[in-house]
Amino acid sequence: MSAIEVSGLKKSYGPREVLHGVGFRVEPGEVFALLGPNGAGKTTTVEILEGYRDRDEGTVQVLGTDPARGGSDFRARIGIVLQSSAVYPLLSVREILELFAGYYERARGVGEVIDLVGLGDKRETRVRTLSGGQLRRLDLALALIGDPELIFLDEPTTGFDPAARRQAWETIRDLRALGKSILLTTHYMEEAQTLADRLAILRDGRIVATGSPRELLSGATGVEIRYRRDGEEFVIATDEPTRVLNELTGQALAEGFELEGIEVRRRSLEDLYLELTREEAEVG
Ligand SMILES: Nc1ncnc2c1ncn2[C@@H]1O[C@H](COP(=O)(O)OP(=O)(O)OP(=O)(O)O)[C@@H](O)[C@H]1O
Ligand SMILES: [Mg+2]
Repeated sequence: MSAIEVSGLKKSYGPREVLHGVGFRVEPGEVFALLGPNGAGKTTTVEILEGYRDRDEGTVQVLGTDPARGGSDFRARIGIVLQSSAVYPLLSVREILELFAGYYERARGVGEVIDLVGLGDKRETRVRTLSGGQLRRLDLALALIGDPELIFLDEPTTGFDPAARRQAWETIRDLRALGKSILLTTHYMEEAQTLADRLAILRDGRIVATGSPRELLSGATGVEIRYRRDGEEFVIATDEPTRVLNELTGQALAEGFELEGIEVRRRSLEDLYLELTREEAEVG
């Protein structure tokens, strides 16, 4: 049984349809990333899967349950980091986690979860005085406290400093190693590339690509070579960088010009993402 199975998912807000038939599947123990520009429909999709938003059409199974009908049993099996949250400013980190732990039958230890998200030195700090990144870590802690099987992370590392982001990646890897399934959204392509077993790119309420990062990048031309000549920029995409570089440098030596600012790099997920989500140029 898949952790998540969605097909033909449609959702309108008033007269405006924002999901036009979204479908994908997340296997147990997998980290799945949902990518897409602002307003593409990621949060809407995630909230429907969490059971926090009604859908108009389509079938949805989350841990074998339709989230629209999921009761408290279902909710105890999922953990959620919302895109934005504001909780009990006057409680300390420890107090709020103890409060939430009380809602679950088999919660994890509060101290263990605090350490897992790296808030050990903020245990007794009031939520009100945490920084943005620390608050986000608390959000993650709240998602983990009930020891869920499936975790939804909507932009879990937005606002994190680079070190905190690396630490969050470690936490997500640790969760995966424990066999948890994870659906995350992110605007950081490096995050998706490093964490996701598979991913889907959503654009205007439609999935435009799905697969592992490797699969998605394998079809495309592999390497990009950039250089300038007399101030003009040249970009060559190729699967044969050795041959192309040999020709280029040979030509440059023979004709006596410099390949200014030459750069050779592998095509990244970000390149693919930008191509697939680019607004169509206006005709006219
Ligand atoms: N409660 C709502 N009422 C009306 N329209 C909404 C509501 N929530 C979202 N929308 C609209 O639905 C579309 C999809 O929004 P959604 O929040 O799902 O996008 P997103 O992919 O999560 O974007 P972001 O990357 O900015 O978080 C947007 O055009 C948004 O304006
Ligand atoms: Mg969102």
